[in-house]
Amino acid sequence: MADISRRNALILGGVGIGGVAIGGTGLLVNHQSVRPLASESASGAIFVQPTELRSSNGVLSVALESSSQHVSIAGKDVRALSYNGGVPGPTLRVRAGDILNVSLRNGLTDPSNLHVHGLHVSPKNNSDNVFVTIKAGESFDYQYELPDNHAPGVYWYHPHHHGFVADQVFGGLYGAIIVEDPEEIPATRERVLVISDITFDSSGTISAATEMDKMTGREGELVLVNGQRDPLLSASPGERERWRVINACTSRYLHLRLDGQQLTLLGIDSGRFESARNVDEVVLAPGNRADLLVTARAGTSTLRALRYERGTSGGMMGGGTFSSADVALATFAVAGADTAAFAAVPDQLSPTDLRSSTVTARRELVFAMGMGGGMNGGMMSATINDRTFDATHVNTTVQFGSIEEWTLTNTSTLDHPVHLHVWPMQIIEQDDRPVESVIWQDVVNIPARSTVRVRVKFDDFSGRSVYHCHILDHEDAGMMGIIDAR
Ligand code: C2O
Ligand code: CU
Ligand code: CU
Repeated sequence: MADISRRNALILGGVGIGGVAIGGTGLLVNHQSVRPLASESASGAIFVQPTELRSSNGVLSVALESSSQHVSIAGKDVRALSYNGGVPGPTLRVRAGDILNVSLRNGLTDPSNLHVHGLHVSPKNNSDNVFVTIKAGESFDYQYELPDNHAPGVYWYHPHHHGFVADQVFGGLYGAIIVEDPEEIPATRERVLVISDITFDSSGTISAATEMDKMTGREGELVLVNGQRDPLLSASPGERERWRVINACTSRYLHLRLDGQQLTLLGIDSGRFESARNVDEVVLAPGNRADLLVTARAGTSTLRALRYERGTSGGMMGGGTFSSADVALATFAVAGADTAAFAAVPDQLSPTDLRSSTVTARRELVFAMGMGGGMNGGMMSATINDRTFDATHVNTTVQFGSIEEWTLTNTSTLDHPVHLHVWPMQIIEQDDRPVESVIWQDVVNIPARSTVRVRVKFDDFSGRSVYHCHILDHEDAGMMGIIDAR
């Protein structure tokens, strides 16, 4: 965690000069030296996964209830927000072409709703419609129809009621959605790792965010894997595990590393790479997911989230950086007899590539932060093209079926992970450098003071939806716009 003076510095210098861009699209980083952890905590409880619910005969019907209740987190009895009594909520396993029915009862004291992050489904009516309000004590029946060619991969669900998103996600409301592969990739076992962060006070109640926390984006003191602190995962040498990793943190970036093990990245978000890549590290911005194969090697390894800088104070007050500390997330213990090796992962069929497509329209979105300025009362402003979210204003109208090129410009000294609902984005350029492979993501990090160019095909679904910063405090502060595809 950054200390308070750094946070102060960041606020004072929010619109200052001299921000340092953090390189790369935040995708894959190669070798870097690793600082030892300050405190190497002893391995905790055996790794536990959320309850799994799987579709059968093309349908999965789920009842979810959100509520504030006593749960066990990191081995302590605390009061948190939960879906069906768990943190995370149940994992939903579906396939392309399935129908997912979710009946959500809002047992909170604030309004809420549900968003299926990354799923390519309709944003209308009772599908993935973030304009729905479910009042406290009321229920709503969602129905999501996945197209027959829906991309396999790891997705997630969380509340999306503007103004309450950061509090509700930070409080514990999230769960995994897996769209299974048409043809399974051979692995010994599959694990879902929902990574989140949270802070409790001494009475076991979730700490409220300060105005300063909201400006930078709150980070929790505890970083959890499936609600556990540093759980223990065991395997035998040679086993291949499929890890579905979700960054469900409200604002924290996860710079993941698992030294001593072989990591093969199949893709990020819904974007499966043409061929699997061996990696040392994976960086997940808030909202991103990784589909990883881990080939076990004898020895005990620690899954860590390394220090990650996501902004600076802009040159003021000594020019501090804003970054999260190193954290041990889980322990992976590999011992026993060797298992026969697995075959290499076959290449995918060529994914869609819009780089040579004809673009119908080009537009720029400018993400900016500033001081609210005494008049408006607020401490900060978080804007897209100088506007904050207005539920009655359509910011962007696009033609259904068209291909657009968007220039995403970040003028602030903090990174903004930009998310578009329904239609994934292909990253084509980072600070004027073309991207050399086909990369599709639904959250694209725009490093401080830099520009990323993406292309989007507005196919299959029309209707109103949103794009926003996935630092959820920024989204609640208004860094969100409405898009209408028609
Ligand atoms: Cu993960 Cu609009 O959200
Ligand atoms: Cu989303
Ligand atoms: Cu942001």
